[in-house]
Amino acid sequence: MTNSKTPSILITGATGTIGSELATQLAAQGVSFRALVRSLENTQTLAALDGAELVVGDLSDADSLRRALDGIDRAFLLTNSSEQAENLQATFVEMAQRAGVKHLVKLSQFAADLDSPVRFLRYHAAVEQKIRESGLAYTFLRPNLFMQGLFGFRDPIVKQGKFFATAGDAKISLVDSRDIAAVAAEALTAPGHEGKNYDLTGPEAITHQQMAAYLSEGLGKPVFYINVSDADLRQALRSVGFPEWQADGLIEDYAHYARGEASAVSSAIQDVTGKTPRDFRNFVRDYAAVFSE
Ligand SMILES: NC(=O)c1ccc[n+]([C@@H]2O[C@H](COP(=O)([O-])OP(=O)(O)OC[C@H]3O[C@@H](n4cnc5c(N)ncnc54)[C@H](OP(=O)(O)O)[C@@H]3O)[C@@H](O)[C@H]2O)c1
Repeated sequence: MTNSKTPSILITGATGTIGSELATQLAAQGVSFRALVRSLENTQTLAALDGAELVVGDLSDADSLRRALDGIDRAFLLTNSSEQAENLQATFVEMAQRAGVKHLVKLSQFAADLDSPVRFLRYHAAVEQKIRESGLAYTFLRPNLFMQGLFGFRDPIVKQGKFFATAGDAKISLVDSRDIAAVAAEALTAPGHEGKNYDLTGPEAITHQQMAAYLSEGLGKPVFYINVSDADLRQALRSVGFPEWQADGLIEDYAHYARGEASAVSSAIQDVTGKTPRDFRNFVRDYAAVFSE
């Protein structure tokens, strides 16, 4: 940590998939930032980034948010999807407003909608609404299914050459989380993104069977996509510790994918970053070592 300038950007979720990549990209651009973390454990890589300042806190703890938001102009809001997510994020919006934050970049989800049958899409839409009503300048990032979600299937891909879901043969314009982070970095550091909703997708919509074919080609071994029932998916998620609310939410999410509702391709990543979004072949090439013994 060599940059001594007090950061004006706060990142939440900085230990997660998108947030850690966002922190890395900001540091590479020479932009100092503060990261809100729940614990300092396992944060050595984050803390070592140039311009990183870590503050311990929790979105459920208003006092810690007050400290974290002191002197902050722009903030990135992200939590995982849990039963508490809507309340946690709503608290953050209120505290950001009180602290005089000027611009909030919220990580939402593709097809966020108050009337959606998918609970994740409803809670994201509710937080978006709260932000709109707060009067804060905002940018909503609405990514589609993350390619990096496949890391959860590393073991069955390595050991059995299989991964599982309930997506059927629907096409999904899945997106690389590195490109989502690049849009977040741009929205936090450059003007012109206020009041914008960005649908963040990859450059093409592909089926899970096509994902399996690209994995087979890239890893040089056969990989199969196995379409399972909702009941099997629920059992698998519960057996690895997913709370019921989250497991049911993921089942709803995949039903939405299976209905073909997440196949649209957006130009937002190209428009905002000037770079073509990574496709699934790029993803497999870059992470081949992760999916190999
Ligand atoms: N996965 C997908 O395909 C997909 C697609 C579209 C949208 N999304 C959206 O993406 C978001 C998840 O992004 P992600 O995968 O980058 O998340 P992630 O890797 O699960 O990380 C979640 C982050 O939130 C932090 N967090 C959770 N509760 C917190 C609290 N009470 N106070 C402070 N920090 C807290 C976690 O901190 P700790 O390290 O302390 O736990 C972690 O840094 C969700 O909103 C989801 O709906 C996901």
